[in-house]
Amino acid sequence: MTAIEHVTVAGAGAMGSQISMVCALAGLQTKVYDVNDAATDKATTSLQVWLSRAVDKGRLSPADRDAAWARLSFHGDLPSAAADADLVIEAVVEKIDVKRALLAELGRLTPPRAILTSNTSSFVPSRMADATSRPEQFANLHFFNPALVMACVEVIRGPQTSDTTVQTLLEFTKRIGKTPVLLEKEIPGFIANRILNAVRDEAIYLVENGYASVTSIDTACRTALGYPMGPFELMDLTGIDIGYYTKVGRYSETGDPADAPSATVTALVERGDLGRKTGRGFYTYDSNGTKIEEAK
Ligand code: 3HC
Repeated sequence: MTAIEHVTVAGAGAMGSQISMVCALAGLQTKVYDVNDAATDKATTSLQVWLSRAVDKGRLSPADRDAAWARLSFHGDLPSAAADADLVIEAVVEKIDVKRALLAELGRLTPPRAILTSNTSSFVPSRMADATSRPEQFANLHFFNPALVMACVEVIRGPQTSDTTVQTLLEFTKRIGKTPVLLEKEIPGFIANRILNAVRDEAIYLVENGYASVTSIDTACRTALGYPMGPFELMDLTGIDIGYYTKVGRYSETGDPADAPSATVTALVERGDLGRKTGRGFYTYDSNGTKIEEAK
């Protein structure tokens, strides 16, 4: 079994940046690859803010903060990011062609021992594994947003993923302080998102048919069901476009109208109201990301 000491995270977006910090905090040498300087700058700022808050709250010592930051490095060129990787976690844009092209490069640039994984929520492993030239060393490793907080990581094995790869990923997940959940046989949406999507679809049905407001439904989920946040608050947190593109991809594969994005979500995406990151989604937000009210 490969001992994972060097991790490369491809993509410095919301998920990639937090995944990289989870790894650095767990004591692993972690490289973040992104060609977009703006994404790297944003990741640097938000991770530093998160680390400072963790120190202020007494959750992290200043020495541990400095050690974690020293283990993290940002790279704009793939060969240097991939050179000594034991494990790669791909977290780039949810476009299959982009992922396959990157995974093919990673298959050439990483050491033969390296396990390659994708954090995608849209694609099952068999859509990507053959691009890597080492399909037995490929699986999905699916984190949840915000990755620094959420405990679960789904390990999704594809038809060619070896037992050794699965065991290594389960061990790795525990080592970084997360709770692994194994999906033995691939299915779109995996476990948590399938359940989440069923709740989401029902919530949108209730709004679109005038049964209840966004606020009422979110309040019911929090106060009747004990959810930490309601489905609309969660879509605003994760990005309304993320769920939209997942549905577009799924619908293009199945042609099943039940898989198509809803009219409400489509309209928000077309307007550019993508949730907290744009200041407006199902709710409006101030410049600190604090919720103001339900969007009219
Ligand atoms: N990034 C990093 N840390 C964050 C954060 C963020 N975006 N938001 C909150 N936190 C941290 C806070 O700093 C705080 O840390 P502390 O315990 O050290 O003080 C802790 O989380 C709790 O935050 P708050 O007290 O501000 O607020 P809450 O108690 O309401 O928790 C929450 C916020 C953790 C986001 C909680 O509301 C929650 O669990 N929501 C549900 C999230 C969820 O369902 N995620 C899954 C989404 S689906 C998905 O990711 C699938 C993928 O395929 C897209």
